Amino acid sequence: MINIAVLASGNGSNFQALAEDKELEGQIKLLLVNKAEAYAIERAKALKIDYVIIENQNYKNREQYDDALIAVLEEFNIDLVLLAGFMRMLSPKIVDHFTNRIINIHPSILPKYPGVSAIKQAYDAKETETGVTIHYVDKGLDSGQIILQEKIKIDKSDTLESLTNAIHKLEHKLYLQAVKIVLEKFK
Ligand code: GRF
Repeated sequence: MINIAVLASGNGSNFQALAEDKELEGQIKLLLVNKAEAYAIERAKALKIDYVIIENQNYKNREQYDDALIAVLEEFNIDLVLLAGFMRMLSPKIVDHFTNRIINIHPSILPKYPGVSAIKQAYDAKETETGVTIHYVDKGLDSGQIILQEKIKIDKSDTLESLTNAIHKLEHKLYLQAVKIVLEKFK
């Protein structure tokens, strides 16, 4: 069985969608958060999945923080790392440590709108479509090799809220599909 860790900073709806899938040929062993107030922790408790909080402020720099991340991931024998709303860039050290084994979900059709507020940026720019991208994590910002992308139309009647809801719904479906593709490569 492939051991999976999900890294999140906030709500954790993608974490929950992944954890609740019965067909995944990998086990979500760990939720790792960088914010003690992340709602994702409540989801981990309800799902009976171990969670670890590693807060940014306790570390001098990114390298030291990522050393702590690596230590926990190794303690749990993690093979695959899924970023799901983890609002923090990873250092080259951890990217090298888990080459092609860190994946991220991003709410836009990359390379358009990398970084924060991607849904709002597409909405404010009056795009007629946006979408979701799942990609491998490299040393850049939302720049790694794309695994899956799916577009969604932005209707004139859409509000930022309705678009955000539609994106999240698509994310929960697409992340699972992408993880299944990646898990095939472990076989
Ligand atoms: C998602 O929109 C994801 O694409 C982005 O952060 C958000 C996390 O949502 N990277 P949730 O915490 O999984 O609900």
